[in-house]
Amino acid sequence: LNILMAASECVPFAKEGGLADVVGVLPRYLARMGHDVRVVMPRYYRIDPERYGLTRLPGVLVVPMGIMGNQYCGVWEGRLPGSDVPVYFLEHEGYYGREGLYEEDNIGYMDNDNRFIFLSRAAMELPRMIGFAPDVFHAHDWHTAAVPVFLNTLYRDDPLVGGAASVLTIHNMQHQGNFYPGAMEVLGIGWEHFTFLGLEKDNQTNLLKGGIYHATVLNTVSEGYAREMQTPEYGWGLDGVVRARAADLVGILNGVDYDEWNPETDPHIVANYSSADLSGKKLCKRDVQRFFGLPEREDVPLFGMVGRLVKQKGIDILAEAIPRILALDVQVVMLGAGEPWSHFYFGDVKSACPEQFGLYIGYNNGLSHRIEAGSDFFVMPSAFEPCGLNQMYSLRYGTLPVVRATGGLDDSVENFDEQNLTGNGFKFWSHDADSLFDTVGWAVHTWYHRKDAMSALIGNAMAQRFTWEDSAGAYEELYFRALRKRLGVGV
Ligand code: ADP
Ligand code: GLC
Repeated sequence: LNILMAASECVPFAKEGGLADVVGVLPRYLARMGHDVRVVMPRYYRIDPERYGLTRLPGVLVVPMGIMGNQYCGVWEGRLPGSDVPVYFLEHEGYYGREGLYEEDNIGYMDNDNRFIFLSRAAMELPRMIGFAPDVFHAHDWHTAAVPVFLNTLYRDDPLVGGAASVLTIHNMQHQGNFYPGAMEVLGIGWEHFTFLGLEKDNQTNLLKGGIYHATVLNTVSEGYAREMQTPEYGWGLDGVVRARAADLVGILNGVDYDEWNPETDPHIVANYSSADLSGKKLCKRDVQRFFGLPEREDVPLFGMVGRLVKQKGIDILAEAIPRILALDVQVVMLGAGEPWSHFYFGDVKSACPEQFGLYIGYNNGLSHRIEAGSDFFVMPSAFEPCGLNQMYSLRYGTLPVVRATGGLDDSVENFDEQNLTGNGFKFWSHDADSLFDTVGWAVHTWYHRKDAMSALIGNAMAQRFTWEDSAGAYEELYFRALRKRLGVGV
């Protein structure tokens, strides 16, 4: 199949979260299966053409932006590292010549509607420029949710792309691309689509809603979240439109890039180790303790946490529970950045408990590997989690996840069964500080008093695999399903 993937993030070029990991890896596996897959994304200011060996294609891409008229952009071409997958970067100084992807100093750019409508519309125009006829357009999240909308409207009868099907992958229902009604004029698809059965939501133009409504088929990144997103509790107001499309919705758990996340070969950690010989893990623990200035004790359980410090990740209940957690004989280290209050709050915790709590505010890939390797437990108390990657990394590193049983966390972690010594982590269900504290307490108790169980759990965890071969196979099936639906054969 010819597949054009449109996204706002892609490893290694630009990343804020797990979306980038997925877009950076999935195409490589699809290419290995024989598909001609290509990626289109913005050339953010931070993407240095020289560093990635990009070449500038001749000519310019003309992108109609409705009432704003035609916009023009240059196109750079590169490859996903370790593959032949072409990546096209859209160069538009006005939209992407800035520091951030979506925001600066925690304030979203005022023109994010135009910036990502542009990306979506450029994805529709690019095929002509590069001489590529997609069978499938694969869009991700609200940033490119206008792709299925365009395909179903302005490009329906386009001789080059009109026959294609669209797949929309939802990585997060919270962020929807909700803009003023006038964004309809930039889309240029006509006000008849500004309705309940279209892009209108609370008298705003909602791009994600439009994508959900128009995509040939949809998926999200776990089966659990596919069910949850159809409920008011997790649907962020769009559960109704998702329910209306339930027959065309599937859950596909993300895979892990085990070339990058493997304790046997990881170059970021001080000592490599395997399930057969865990001695290196002890050195990794000492490395983390030393980095954060904590006492280098082997006889204390170390909890790690890495992620965006936002409510989605449950940092509010962690903030509430942390004084009680630190009253136990434990160490906790945290790496992340996000809501400003959390930087101050956890900074104060660090000042109050410098012997037990380590904090690094910022983004640091190498350190995230060291924390995965050096910790005994990994905490993810998420309010919702479509998939979650860190708990899967943790399992591979023999670092037992302590998670709230939601979405992908529930699907990928199996709760410890004390009788049968099965499972690979510790789960709680109710999203509150008491449940989090109780479950951390359970893990601490197990660590101190059930060494036998700890070994069994670590063994189970390290044997678990979430391979991209499996996930890419599921996407391939979804593409064929979308095409059959588009062409009206079977379903
Ligand atoms: P989300 O996409 O919701 O942020 P995921 O668990 O899917 O959550 O993916 C987060 C990814 O970003 C992981 O690869 C994680 O290691 C990485 N990450 C998040 N915050 C940081 C940070 N401060 N430093 C390094 N890596 C981070
Ligand atoms: C989103 C979700 C996260 C998921 C990631 C990749 O950012 O919050 O749970 O793992 O996308 O699909």
